[in-house]
Amino acid sequence: SDGVLVDRYGRIARDLRVSLTDKCNLRCTYCMPAEGLPWLAGPQLLTDDEIVRLVGVAVRRLGVTEVRFTGGEPLIRPGLLDIVAAVAALEPRPRISLTTNGIGLDRLAPALHAAGLDRVNVSLDTLDADRFTALTRRPRLDAVLAGLAGAAAAGLTPVKINSVLMRGVNDDEAPALLRFALTHGYELRFIEQMPLDAQHGWDRAAMVTADEILASLRREFDLRTDPVERGSAPAETWLVDGGPARVGVIASVTRPFCGDCDRTRLTADGQVRACLFATEESDLRGALRAGVDDEGLADRWRRAMWGKRAGHGIDDPTFLQPARPMSAIGG
Ligand code: GTP
Ligand code: 5AD
Ligand code: SF4
Repeated sequence: SDGVLVDRYGRIARDLRVSLTDKCNLRCTYCMPAEGLPWLAGPQLLTDDEIVRLVGVAVRRLGVTEVRFTGGEPLIRPGLLDIVAAVAALEPRPRISLTTNGIGLDRLAPALHAAGLDRVNVSLDTLDADRFTALTRRPRLDAVLAGLAGAAAAGLTPVKINSVLMRGVNDDEAPALLRFALTHGYELRFIEQMPLDAQHGWDRAAMVTADEILASLRREFDLRTDPVERGSAPAETWLVDGGPARVGVIASVTRPFCGDCDRTRLTADGQVRACLFATEESDLRGALRAGVDDEGLADRWRRAMWGKRAGHGIDDPTFLQPARPMSAIGG
């Protein structure tokens, strides 16, 4: 490749997260309001070919080795299988993963695996059907559980689960979620809630912290330091009851990992973001549609990443939430 995505702090972005849509078929209370959001209009969205072209630039010219598809909910993108197959055909072939709410995954998992998807991460915050319905505003717990099982059966492994705990909602469920994950062979990670909701309702004091999650788990499990190097992974992991099973915590707020960040992002409307919390975006869609060639696109992408900020700054007194919510940026 002709030069990697390096920022002025020396971090190199090898992990590309691509949002395929800002829409979702759930309405998690910590993400979006019941009525949904003003979705991106058709012409604003990158086409399947445009996505593959930009991912190709990242992989062939910019040293990206990991591609993760996110949303919104990526499984509702009509062209998903074709996009995955085209990205899997790139040389050098990147590793390909997907972050999903799991609905429809039982049906799609075999075809996704055949198209070249390597693994999936599935969001699941509660195992209680009534709580699930209240939290996501849709009665789909069984669909998510079927999606997890289907992913494992199709070989989209390791299957990881992401759980966001909320005080007074599901913060008593950490041990039950871990027992469930251990039983089925899924790798569970708890996530500290970040100020990325559309409603701007995030409250630092109400956030369930990594320390609280670990204390709650330690009442029922023995957790030991994981000998495996963490690298740039957002999750810090522990061996459960001697291993080999692990549990992770993504403590973006209380233990930020921005210093080791290796991410670059592409939104569903073709904007490069250097960071989840970036205040600026760089318009690759406009450049692409104006006829800029691959090297010109690579150059714009490099310049966008050079300006990546040192960290998210959530604890700064002047912190402002990004203008777009997580569902539009890509999870
Ligand atoms: P793995 O490679 O499987 O470990 O994936 P991942 O954990 O990077 O990806 P996933 O999409 O499952 O993201 C899980 C959670 O990590 C997200 O919900 C975010 O809370 C957090 N996360 C992902 N990317 C970033 C990031 O760039 N910055 C921060 N602060 N958090 C992130
Ligand atoms: N903070 C942390 N994680 C979040 N997710 C969605 N919104 C937030 C937030 N504000 C999680 C989802 C999914 C992953 C992509 O991000 O639950 O697992
Ligand atoms: Fe990277 Fe920004 Fe996430 Fe920090 S908040 S880990 S810098 S994307």
